[in-house]
Amino acid sequence: MGRSGHACSVLGSLLLLLLLLPGPAAAQKGSAWKTLSGDAPAVIAKGGFSGLFPDSSDPAYLFAASNQDSAQWCDVRLTKDGVGICLPDIKMDNCTTISDLFPKGKKTYRVNGVSMTGWFSVDYNSIDLTNVTLLRAILSRTNRFDGSFTLVQVEVALSQYKAPAWLNVQHDSFYSQFNLSMRSYILSMSKQYTVDYISSPEVSFLKSLVGRVGRKTKLVFRFLDEGLVEPSTNQTYGSMLKNLSSIKTFASGILVPKHYIWPVTADNYLQPSTSVVDDAHKAGLEIYAADFANDFALSYNYSYDPLAEYLRFIDNGAFCVDGLLTDFPITPLEAIGCFSNLNNTKADHGAPLVISHNGASGDYPDCTDLAYQKAVVDGADVIDCDVQVTKDGIPICMSSIDLMDVTTVASSQFASQAGVISDIKAVAGVYTFNLTWEDIANNLKPMISNPFGQISLSRNPRNRNAGKFMRLSDFLAFAKGEDLSGIMITVEHASFMAEKLGFGVVDAVIKAVDDSGYSKQTAKKVMIQSTNSSTLVKFKQLAFQSMCIC
Ligand SMILES: *[C@@H]1O[C@H](CO)[C@@H](O)[C@H](O)[C@H]1NC(C)=O
Ligand SMILES: *[C@@H]1O[C@H](CO)[C@@H](O)[C@H](O)[C@H]1NC(C)=O
Ligand SMILES: *[C@@H]1O[C@H](CO)[C@@H](O)[C@H](O)[C@H]1NC(C)=O
Ligand SMILES: *[C@@H]1O[C@H](CO)[C@@H](O)[C@H](O)[C@H]1NC(C)=O
Ligand SMILES: *[C@@H]1O[C@H](CO)[C@@H](O)[C@H](O)[C@H]1NC(C)=O
Ligand SMILES: *[C@@H]1O[C@H](CO)[C@@H](O)[C@H](O)[C@H]1NC(C)=O
Ligand SMILES: *[C@@H]1O[C@H](CO)[C@@H](O)[C@H](O)[C@H]1NC(C)=O
Ligand SMILES: *[C@@H]1O[C@H](CO)[C@@H](O)[C@H](O)[C@H]1NC(C)=O
Ligand SMILES: *[C@@H]1O[C@H](CO)[C@@H](O)[C@H](O)[C@H]1NC(C)=O
Repeated sequence: MGRSGHACSVLGSLLLLLLLLPGPAAAQKGSAWKTLSGDAPAVIAKGGFSGLFPDSSDPAYLFAASNQDSAQWCDVRLTKDGVGICLPDIKMDNCTTISDLFPKGKKTYRVNGVSMTGWFSVDYNSIDLTNVTLLRAILSRTNRFDGSFTLVQVEVALSQYKAPAWLNVQHDSFYSQFNLSMRSYILSMSKQYTVDYISSPEVSFLKSLVGRVGRKTKLVFRFLDEGLVEPSTNQTYGSMLKNLSSIKTFASGILVPKHYIWPVTADNYLQPSTSVVDDAHKAGLEIYAADFANDFALSYNYSYDPLAEYLRFIDNGAFCVDGLLTDFPITPLEAIGCFSNLNNTKADHGAPLVISHNGASGDYPDCTDLAYQKAVVDGADVIDCDVQVTKDGIPICMSSIDLMDVTTVASSQFASQAGVISDIKAVAGVYTFNLTWEDIANNLKPMISNPFGQISLSRNPRNRNAGKFMRLSDFLAFAKGEDLSGIMITVEHASFMAEKLGFGVVDAVIKAVDDSGYSKQTAKKVMIQSTNSSTLVKFKQLAFQSMCIC
């Protein structure tokens, strides 16, 4: 976190600039950021790379510091003897092995008016903590590193990790009850080391630092949830947001939970953005957004893509935050370095092709009109149809031959037709070939697939039964009208269909493609996929040249 980190990154950006200058993209990129300064947004690694290693551990900081573009965040806590340590929670038992080493150390204190029970750093001298090790605080993350690393002192972090430093002081008034002065500690650190940012949710604490820290140190006021009360003014954070110019008198920036900017509904859908980024910029304040992680339930609007979330905050055409506080710094760095300010006109992806899987099946039920439309909008080069056949011999797109898997058949009048067909699977199903196309199209609804439903990662619930089923002919007609480089048709169970249903699926697919006129569009590929090589051989014997047999 010393100065050399800066020097390197300045050199790095100079080099980058030189490389970019000759291209037309450079100028466009240079002015593209709608941050207060016009620079790219900052990335702040919360407790280092805490998505992987325990928050505030040595490897978490080293791993994040290996990329000099991210700043290192330390939540400062004080020990009884006034030594600063970095720890994500005021309760040490949340993130360390303290309760094993000091089984009788549990205490109850009031922290900002709220009673808290646990193990607190103020009860231990720094030497007592020598053998205490860090644990992950988020239990869904790997336990691989639990108990492997000792606590990191603030001074070690400041002197050893070569990256911009961000010190967050959450509970100044708590420490003063123990005659510990957080203010003196922070001032002494900022005299000895480069401290780039100091944040706190307490107005009086930040005000006490104004004019006392170096001019390059940014003081950042941290907003907590809207309903909580700021201890020194007695106002809620929600009401303080309405008077940002008063914050400008003691801070150069604010840090807000990300939902202040893009609120979400209780069922996790994104609402329109608020004006808080513009309001902050108008008041002359930088604005940093907090609470980013790749492995927490993202709003369904992001389709489980953390990059999409970062881009909403930095590249939405209207505003850009000045920094992102994250457990996974590498992802916003990618968003900033590789995925922002791209030309939105449809890009030629080149190789490799992007092929959809049952359309955009993460967002809509498999193989429906909406899934295919979304796949095209998302930029797929090739869309795919898994061909099944109905009782009346119509080829349709359906990701499973068993309607139980991907339709509402279980709650329909056809549920009683469930039976075991051992050639296909051992458990009872209702098969596409047992219902006519009319039965399926008029009486059933599609059902979104949920491969990770058991671990509560459900796909977009509002779209659970959205969209219409597609016949192969509907699929071909749609594909023909879109700017795609090809289609992929998947055929399974060909021998079952031939022997038990008397249906020649290979001939039917070839005929449907011919009838649609699709294969006459020479630039477009038809790819055929099967797990049975005999099926592919048959396609090869019968098919026209433009088919690509995979
Ligand atoms: C830490 O552990 C070592 C080895 O078990 C022991 O000798 C030492 O006294 C312990 N230190 C503290 C402060 O508990
Ligand atoms: C630690 O605290 C955080 C924040 O309150 C909480 O989300 C998490 O579940 C806690 N972890 C443990 C292991 O208690
Ligand atoms: C803090 O200092 C005051 C005055 O010196 C003293 O009365 C008080 O007991 C001290 N409190 C603690 C928790 O050490
Ligand atoms: C804050 O409000 C509480 C209750 O309304 C009151 O007791 C306290 O004195 C107030 N503190 C300040 C700093 O205004
Ligand atoms: C906002 O804060 C400033 C400075 O503290 C104060 O002068 C002003 O009256 C406040 N405005 C409102 C609307 O509360
Ligand atoms: C998020 O998705 C929902 C459901 O599709 C939609 O109604 C809403 O407008 C989306 N939010 C934003 C900000 O685009
Ligand atoms: C985006 O790319 C298209 C096609 O290459 C070009 O015509 C257009 O001017 C570009 N737009 C911008 C904003 O650079
Ligand atoms: C489903 O179709 C298969 C093949 O034609 C047939 O053997 C089976 O009896 C049918 N099942 C029902 C419930 O109609
Ligand atoms: C593959 O297809 C051939 C001919 O259609 C058939 O005889 C064979 O059983 C199939 N193999 C599998 C594993 O389904």
